[in-house]
Amino acid sequence: MGSRRAHHLPWSRAGNLADNDLSADEVVRETGWVFNNETGADLTLEEFVNTGDREVKRYIRLLELENISLESSTLLEIGSGIGRMTSSFTNRCRKVIAADVDSAFLERCRQTVARYGRIDRLSTLHVIDGRSLALSDNTVDVVFSYITLQHCQPQDAIDLIKEAIRVTSSGGTVVLNFRTWVLKDVALVPLGIAVRALWKVPVVGTRLAHWRWSTRLGWQANRLKPDTVVAAVAPALREIKVFHSAKRKLQVSACGIIPVQARPTNRINPSHWWLVAQVS
Ligand SMILES: C[S@@+](CC[C@H](N)C(=O)[O-])C[C@H]1O[C@@H](n2cnc3c(N)ncnc32)[C@H](O)[C@@H]1O
Repeated sequence: MGSRRAHHLPWSRAGNLADNDLSADEVVRETGWVFNNETGADLTLEEFVNTGDREVKRYIRLLELENISLESSTLLEIGSGIGRMTSSFTNRCRKVIAADVDSAFLERCRQTVARYGRIDRLSTLHVIDGRSLALSDNTVDVVFSYITLQHCQPQDAIDLIKEAIRVTSSGGTVVLNFRTWVLKDVALVPLGIAVRALWKVPVVGTRLAHWRWSTRLGWQANRLKPDTVVAAVAPALREIKVFHSAKRKLQVSACGIIPVQARPTNRINPSHWWLVAQVS
């Protein structure tokens, strides 16, 4: 069971679809689009996991993470879904903790990793309230989160980032993906607010949250700028880098005396940016 907060509805809806006797390939056909935006009657879990593996490789390179010795690291993935990237992480890391707000996804994630990764290296963590991690301080070396923090209410996202830093050992690395403003948000953001308000209406709302168009409009619950995030967490971090699309200018100012390195990079979505930093 997941949370009943409006911005969690698309996930619990997809989680309910995953929580049955469907084969893994059928689950990817039914719900896979919520993770990698691909639809089609021919989709398979294997291809789905391959997209995750390619993206893991790509982000290790683009985000300059090659120097992290993953083979001796415990990695926490926040928003693992059904394990699209998790399998790849278990093949590279000593230990992986897959965390998600939906428990049915975590069960499917275990099945995915059992087929395509190293199940002996995996444990799962249910993020019941969507904003706190039931882990002790200093338990992981790396935290990775992709296309997940954009789906949280702004304060939940900030709380999760603080939690990510709390559970990471000193000298460990956080690698966190965010969505920020683009021009089309002038229309998308108010529509998203309206759709999420409708999701709360009894009966109608639950039905509405089942439709793909409504999910896609309502599920991005925040746009966070680098300066906002960095200001909230900078004192706990060092070597702060903000990677963003080379196609756009994004304001990244130093936070007090803590320097922030801007890294305009090709092949990053113009609406995305990444915070990569070491925990002090
Ligand atoms: C777009 S999917 C991305 C999944 C995965 N990172 C990938 O790329 O395939 C977002 C995932 O984040 C999870 N999620 C959303 N809000 C969350 C929260 N507050 N805490 C943990 N997981 C969350 C959803 O259940 C979903 O599995």
